[in-house]
Amino acid sequence: MSKIIYYVAASQDGYIATADHQLDWLENFPPAEDATPYETFYQTIGAVVMGAETYRWIMNHSAHHWPYSQIPTLVVSSNDLVIPEDLNITQITGDAAAIAERARQSAKGQDVWLIGGGKTAARFADAGELQQLFITTIPVFLGHGIEILPVKQPVSTVLHSFRVLKNGATETVIDLLNSHP
Ligand SMILES: NC(=O)c1ccc[n+]([C@@H]2O[C@H](COP(=O)([O-])OP(=O)(O)OC[C@H]3O[C@@H](n4cnc5c(N)ncnc54)[C@H](OP(=O)(O)O)[C@@H]3O)[C@@H](O)[C@H]2O)c1
Repeated sequence: MSKIIYYVAASQDGYIATADHQLDWLENFPPAEDATPYETFYQTIGAVVMGAETYRWIMNHSAHHWPYSQIPTLVVSSNDLVIPEDLNITQITGDAAAIAERARQSAKGQDVWLIGGGKTAARFADAGELQQLFITTIPVFLGHGIEILPVKQPVSTVLHSFRVLKNGATETVIDLLNSHP
């Protein structure tokens, strides 16, 4: 069964961006030669899902090079978004269960990468539709910002794996216990 995986980078205090959507604390951190290769993860993915704010951030920062062009993208929003016609991007709305079902169909048996942000991931987690988190934690405190997973109710987890990388970041893979598949 295809899993929905929230693969994300966060600060030590659990933020994925500053309140004004800055990611310099992440982009300026030196990459780790021993990190799990992005390509290894991406090869397991058949579709990506993201919220409207994350879509806007990507379009503002890399509109000329859509990073997920080989696979379908679902963008979740209840407002009309500007979406270029030549990219494999579909706007979708509805409850998280229906969106999860559509994402799994799009992924054709592979896993789904829930890119973020935190608000969208939390809706999936609250609905029992998020199976795994892959968190790269950057050793910096931001003090405030956009939360990694602002769920409305407690979500129990079990640690799948944990690694300390040579650059001081960590990789934590967590399974969510109340998820459906
Ligand atoms: N550090 C990282 O690895 C990482 C990863 C991803 C994102 N980010 C950052 O995170 C920030 C954005 O995160 P965020 O939590 O603020 O926002 P987000 O999750 O990207 O987007 C939230 C929006 O998505 C829409 N949405 C989500 N679920 C929906 C549903 N079921 N039905 C209808 N609409 C739904 C709503 O927009 P509407 O009001 O349009 O309906 C909601 O306001 C950006 O700065 C981005 O760069 C960081």
